[in-house]
Amino acid sequence: MPRVAAPRDRWATKIGLVFALAGNAIGLGNFLRFPVQAVRNGGGAFMIPYLLALVLIGIPLMWVECAIGRKGGAQGHGHTAGMLTTLWHHPLARAIGVFGIFIPFCVSLYYIYITSWTLAFAFFSLTGRYFGLASRAEMGDFVKGFQGVVTTDYFSGIGTAYFFNCVTLLFTLFILAGGIAKGIERLAKVAIPLLFVLGIGLAVRVLTFGTPDPGRPDWNVAAGLGYVWNPRFDRLSDASIWLAAAGQIFFTLSVGWGIIHTYTSYLCQDDDVALTGLATASLNEFAEVVLGGTIAIPAAVAFFGLAGTQEIANGGAFDLGFQSLPLVFQRIPLGHIVGAAWFLLLFLAGITSAVAIVQPAVALLQEGWGIPRGRAVSLVGIAVFLLGQPVIFFNGHGFLDELDFWVGAFALVLFGFLEVMIFSWVYGAEKGWADIVRGAAITPPRIFVTVVKYLTPTFLGVVLFAWAYQEVPAKLRMEGVAPADMPYVIAARLMLVALFLGMTWLAFRAARAQGR
Ligand code: PHE
Repeated sequence: MPRVAAPRDRWATKIGLVFALAGNAIGLGNFLRFPVQAVRNGGGAFMIPYLLALVLIGIPLMWVECAIGRKGGAQGHGHTAGMLTTLWHHPLARAIGVFGIFIPFCVSLYYIYITSWTLAFAFFSLTGRYFGLASRAEMGDFVKGFQGVVTTDYFSGIGTAYFFNCVTLLFTLFILAGGIAKGIERLAKVAIPLLFVLGIGLAVRVLTFGTPDPGRPDWNVAAGLGYVWNPRFDRLSDASIWLAAAGQIFFTLSVGWGIIHTYTSYLCQDDDVALTGLATASLNEFAEVVLGGTIAIPAAVAFFGLAGTQEIANGGAFDLGFQSLPLVFQRIPLGHIVGAAWFLLLFLAGITSAVAIVQPAVALLQEGWGIPRGRAVSLVGIAVFLLGQPVIFFNGHGFLDELDFWVGAFALVLFGFLEVMIFSWVYGAEKGWADIVRGAAITPPRIFVTVVKYLTPTFLGVVLFAWAYQEVPAKLRMEGVAPADMPYVIAARLMLVALFLGMTWLAFRAARAQGR
């Protein structure tokens, strides 16, 4: 039976909050997803819609979400199902807000697992476990063997991956059990500075690769950087590049997830959100385009050439980071250490995001149902563990990819669109603006009001329409899915529907009991 909520947790320090938000935003998306998206979508051609989406969607939504979070927190809400009703007192607002619990929870089912791979690979680098596997095919088998997708001589089964998954999940829960200031903030204060040191060190190391093979003068770092940074206008009419760019902005900045709201709900009423939001976006973009863009792509181009790098990126979402860079580490001095640094960087990026994606569900149980934090963390942890099993065991059957398409891509844009409509048109962009500048350490340009009223919703509406038209029908028809994998894909969809309904019930039931 839902009960009244206990007093709310708070961030201890300002800098701690900024680190925590940066830890939330900076994740596997910055170092693994961004390079792959950039290479797949034409490098310098991708960067144009990417930067436009950053300015028109990313930063405005970041401010919107920070303001909604702080406002919601003042009313005791740590999740968007409650928060959006403070902007619009309507059951529809609550139902839309359920997305902000549903999306991160569903993504946590695979995000924690992928983060655990990085921990495992940090160990494999240190111990030299993959050293000696000199071709992409061998390294690919090593990765797939680790994931239990194919049987290889390298691993006897999925046991190693399973072990690292349990360790990573337990560590995530341990941090969450500590709470906001004593758990998440403490972790971020250590992990984020370390992450930047590692990232800068690795970027500098890659820049000194030069032309490793004198017989192949075009295979060099400069060619990799040039591919990303020379703007190209010839492919801008291709809608899929725009979709990919907008999708990446949502993923990397953690906007459209409900998590920025959750983190900023632990602020006080008059704390700044304008500078906080901008600082978070800036740190994330530094980590993404400067560090993320300088490590994986130039390293791959120096050792595999541009065409080779494109082939790798088109091959699989994780091939660049897990399959190709380990080959590079084997060919440079101190490769064990450099490899461990790369995977530790990924682990730090992943774990500071993993704690974020689990928190909204914890907040729902704590605040909506009056369940004490420790027990709420355990309950959510059990759910993540159990529902994560199909992700681990059906990985080769497209289960993970199915979840990632619907929640890690489509639902983000949908939720982002709906929330900005509520913010700008139901609540009112002017009122929203007044919220953002209250207590602000900087004043965002006033044009923001016009942007969130017209440009952001239009941009998002077009993206959503293009998506619904171009990608969703083929996906629904399961094009390209092997017949044997169809039951898994259907199971993934059923699980998503069941989770959405279940969370809607939890949110409405709790609100009714509290008379909200
Ligand atoms: N922004 C994270 C990344 O780039 C993903 C994420 C989104 C993590 C939302 C937590 C919350 O990987």
